[in-house]
Amino acid sequence: MTSTPVRIGLIGAGRIGASHADVIARRVPEATLVAVADPRPGVAADLAEPLGARGETYVEAVLTSDDIDAVVIAASSVAHSELIVAAAQAGKHVFSEKPAGMTLAEIDAARTATATAGVAFQVGFNRRFAREFVAAHEAIVAGRLGSVRQLRSLTRDPGRGPSDPDVVPPWTIFTQTLIHDFDTLNWLNPGARAVDVVATADSLTAPGHPTLLDHANVVIRYDNGAIATAEASFAATYGYDVRGEVLGSEGMVTMGEGAQSSLRLHNADGRVAATSHSDTDLLIDAYTGEFAEFAQAVQQGRAPSVTGDDAFAAFAIAQACIDSMASGARAAVAQGVSA
Ligand SMILES: NC(=O)c1ccc[n+]([C@@H]2O[C@H](COP(=O)([O-])OP(=O)(O)OC[C@H]3O[C@@H](n4cnc5c(N)ncnc54)[C@H](O)[C@@H]3O)[C@@H](O)[C@H]2O)c1
Repeated sequence: MTSTPVRIGLIGAGRIGASHADVIARRVPEATLVAVADPRPGVAADLAEPLGARGETYVEAVLTSDDIDAVVIAASSVAHSELIVAAAQAGKHVFSEKPAGMTLAEIDAARTATATAGVAFQVGFNRRFAREFVAAHEAIVAGRLGSVRQLRSLTRDPGRGPSDPDVVPPWTIFTQTLIHDFDTLNWLNPGARAVDVVATADSLTAPGHPTLLDHANVVIRYDNGAIATAEASFAATYGYDVRGEVLGSEGMVTMGEGAQSSLRLHNADGRVAATSHSDTDLLIDAYTGEFAEFAQAVQQGRAPSVTGDDAFAAFAIAQACIDSMASGARAAVAQGVSA
């Protein structure tokens, strides 16, 4: 156990990497941002230097540095699994953005590599650190809702849909967006395992597009009998929207009222609440909380509260959604990697 700040190397300086760098450098006293790496020339230095860190063009420079204890991976999703394995083999603790891989086999390889290396491994399921969701989880674990019977989780991205549907990788709505909802539902239904899913999705902002799915509804059945609904849209004109609801035998909790604060403007339009138009705004405290948890886990030599098994379980639901879309039928959720 140490109280020395954990020295972080950030890999990936894109949209979320820029936010993560700022959060780690300014809001997490248990961590120090030491370096940022990104293959795009100059991008890492432009982000790192104003925050007192150094920029690198090669990831290897971070992985081989003695002054870095842990990496935060915010690179493109297709690179996650390989980077997690390389970082673990280099002896670095690993925080990776979701998903931890693009297949169940990749995620299994990532969790195995981190376990073998004996390093901490946390995946970026930030909703687990959002205050209302934490309170809901505590109420459920304490039994205040009785037995969990029905759950809902929802993510809506702000705007009017992708500006170029052709660049959205197939199945993004399940593997990148709803994966947050799948993890949230798993977490809010403690001890239960997802059994099967039925998924319905379509392209409503670009009708007829061959691969884009921008709206999706998923029904998940759990082995404790609970039934969950996960819903996502890429086109919410009113802002970024994250909500949840759990109904138990003794009561209900709801999370995510959607307003930026309790401030209401009362005027001729009615009673108006301002909304956030980005995840990094709405969930800034949750991002801070997830990095504080990661750094504290490293300092205390314990496993973080969000594990590689959680990453696997959430992606298994995403994979089942893809299977359900392909077959048009209910699809089983994998419990492990098939041989
Ligand atoms: N948890 C969340 O709330 C949340 C929100 C947004 C994005 N994300 C995840 O974060 C990741 C990045 O998303 P983004 O929106 O910032 O994407 P982005 O395209 O804006 O940025 C990705 C960055 O990674 C860099 N990169 C690509 N391959 C790399 C490699 N092998 N090594 C190092 N850097 C590499 C690119 O040059 C780019 O700068 C995605 O996996 C996404 O799913 C998570």
